[in-house]
Amino acid sequence: MRVLVTGATGVIGHPLVGALRARGHEVSALVRQGSRARAPEADQVVVADALDREAVLSAVSEARPEVVVHQMTALRSMHDDPPGAFALTRRLRTEGTAHLVEAARAAGARRLVAQSIAFAAAPASVPVVDEDAPLYVDAPDPGWASTVQAVAELERLVLGSGPDLAGVVLRYGSLYGPRTAYARNGGTAQAVLAGRFPLPRDGAGIMSFLHVEDAVGATVAAIESDVTGVFHVTDDDPAPAAQWLPHYARTLAGPSPRTIPAELAPRMLGWYMTHQLTAAHGASNDRARTALGWKPQRPSWRDGLGKE
Ligand SMILES: NC(=O)c1ccc[n+]([C@@H]2O[C@H](COP(=O)([O-])OP(=O)(O)OC[C@H]3O[C@@H](n4cnc5c(N)ncnc54)[C@H](OP(=O)(O)O)[C@@H]3O)[C@@H](O)[C@H]2O)c1
Repeated sequence: MRVLVTGATGVIGHPLVGALRARGHEVSALVRQGSRARAPEADQVVVADALDREAVLSAVSEARPEVVVHQMTALRSMHDDPPGAFALTRRLRTEGTAHLVEAARAAGARRLVAQSIAFAAAPASVPVVDEDAPLYVDAPDPGWASTVQAVAELERLVLGSGPDLAGVVLRYGSLYGPRTAYARNGGTAQAVLAGRFPLPRDGAGIMSFLHVEDAVGATVAAIESDVTGVFHVTDDDPAPAAQWLPHYARTLAGPSPRTIPAELAPRMLGWYMTHQLTAAHGASNDRARTALGWKPQRPSWRDGLGKE
């Protein structure tokens, strides 16, 4: 198949291009002009900034893809400039996705596979939710509320892209592995090693992790499948912060995270991290297993988080 991968320099996009080519697909990589030197080896490289509608229309038309993959975020700068990273990512999820949907349709693509997140659910009565759980679009923190609203808009655009362009949304769990924030040289690891990642008392927020290689594997499965809809792409071992954070610190050979009173956490960690560590839900991968025929090759974060 002719596949266009956007975000082709990214944590998932880069290895995805190689994985698709290894399976015999003809792959075009969409990159920004300034990132051309970091483009993966591909059958074709096309250039556009996702926020430039004309450029996206022209690049996608040049690639003539059957399947378009959306892997664009600005989350790489999350540790240096969280508000900037979230603001730009919101625009990529709304304006960028709208441009890509329009361009994919105009180029005659039949399928669109897009990255979303598995940790945006609203408070629920169960620790691990499925894809039907409502998103936290009305979170009390305005930053997180607008991020989740942008996620909802991306999903609406991708799934409502019409009968000729089948939409698939992959809600990845928290990514770990090479080049992620949890990699040994990543931002989260550095914070843990420096003792700047405390654990709010009881640490009951549940995280679903996902190794980058499993994100690539699930995305290949979604590209090659005919199914549509939303899928959690997560490992089999959702776990509370009270388990994964001390385990991660030990694997990194860092100091044990200090426990802080829950009421101090928002001031020290901000609303979002406090929510993730104290109240977030895990995400079940049952639907991806059944409908996509995919299962994680790394079923538990316990075997790899902090090791690479
Ligand atoms: N799903 C998750 O688990 C999640 C959530 C939060 C944070 N993170 C962390 O965020 C990092 C990012 O992972 P990721 O795969 O989302 O992102 P990534 O590796 O930074 O890849 C994002 C891709 O989007 C491209 N891009 C950005 N702005 C663009 C624009 N205006 N037009 C066209 N392309 C644009 C980037 O290209 P350039 O090379 O040109 O910038 C890059 O190829 C990881 O370290 C991960 O740990 C992940």
